[in-house]
Amino acid sequence: MEPLRIGVVGAGAIGQYDAEEAVKSGSAKIVGVFDVNHPVARNLARVFSARVSPTYEELLDRQEIEAVLLCVPHYLHKTMAIQAADRGKHILVEKPMATTLEDANDIIATCRKRRVLLTVNFSLRYLARNRKAKALIEQGAVGDITGVQIIAHVFRERGYWMGGRSNSPDDWRASREKSGAGLLFMNVCHVIDYVYFLTGLKAARIYSEYATLGSPAEVEDIASVTIRFDNGAIGTISASTIMRGPDQIEERIWGSRGTLVLCPDGLSFYSTRPIDGKRPGQMHQIPKFRGVSCTAEWVRRFVLAVREGKAPDVAAREGWENVAFISTANLSLEKMRPLEVPLFPNHD
Ligand SMILES: NC(=O)c1ccc[n+]([C@@H]2O[C@H](COP(=O)([O-])OP(=O)(O)OC[C@H]3O[C@@H](n4cnc5c(N)ncnc54)[C@H](O)[C@@H]3O)[C@@H](O)[C@H]2O)c1
Repeated sequence: MEPLRIGVVGAGAIGQYDAEEAVKSGSAKIVGVFDVNHPVARNLARVFSARVSPTYEELLDRQEIEAVLLCVPHYLHKTMAIQAADRGKHILVEKPMATTLEDANDIIATCRKRRVLLTVNFSLRYLARNRKAKALIEQGAVGDITGVQIIAHVFRERGYWMGGRSNSPDDWRASREKSGAGLLFMNVCHVIDYVYFLTGLKAARIYSEYATLGSPAEVEDIASVTIRFDNGAIGTISASTIMRGPDQIEERIWGSRGTLVLCPDGLSFYSTRPIDGKRPGQMHQIPKFRGVSCTAEWVRRFVLAVREGKAPDVAAREGWENVAFISTANLSLEKMRPLEVPLFPNHD
């Protein structure tokens, strides 16, 4: 398969990583780089013998570039994705697709009009642990899902909000206007995405409480979200970036026949059915999974979709539904009441 010729836009923390993984996928070549921070653009370009563009427009004008990999702050996703689509470039955009549903709609409409493919980096879907969890659910280990609990407590030092972990420091993460949301867009969006993917459920109604209690930021650093899923199941998210001590990260999905527990070390399950030849009625642990590079797999699958003219795995709908969840949670806090989560509209 002909490698996809990519222009990387944004050579900060994730731009460097994504570019390396894209090349590792064996399906892509980095041929161009643009960043308003010229030294980081030059450094990244050097690694791949790629050409640095002086402006985004110049990068988009380059015929040989087939796709852009957008690794820029959230508030730029909309404009830069639309500019790329208008020039006929396929788009790999970092999560979240956009900061508002209106922006996500505009991106999707332009991509459809220009017939370019779009994918959002929800690559944790490709984690071997998550693939196994999905298979267990499909085999009936959990039965009809009745409950979902997402716990995501970590600690982020004050400097994190000022870009202290990036090679290209900037305080966009702390700004509501620039980031759109705090820890929900930064971290928890991945978990929301793969819980949708594993269970096939979608949030129908949401009530949220957020606060900023320990960070120099306008966005939330602690959040609690109550979810009614479309099958009637109840879910909760308890998340923060201000919990001192060891991280607490776990997702639990349970139903009429069993329970699945995902944590950074692996997964465990309990089922009233014999699953995978395992005895029913007791907890089984699957502690180790072979490391898979999720980002490389995300790129590889996208290139396959481009070359074969198929829809990408993580496409417009998945990106949109994630923004729908988080923007509804934002609005629920603002209005101090539960809100229905909008359904993916017809963009034709
Ligand atoms: N998939 C993941 O797990 C993951 C992890 C971290 C970040 N991200 C996402 O990646 C994106 C970037 O995050 P980051 O941590 O790399 O941020 P960062 O601040 O480290 O890097 C952003 C880069 O974009 C550049 N930039 C800013 N304005 C620009 C413009 N107009 N044109 C070109 N370049 C511009 C900055 O100079 C900087 O180098 C965000 O969407 C973030 O949510 C995803």
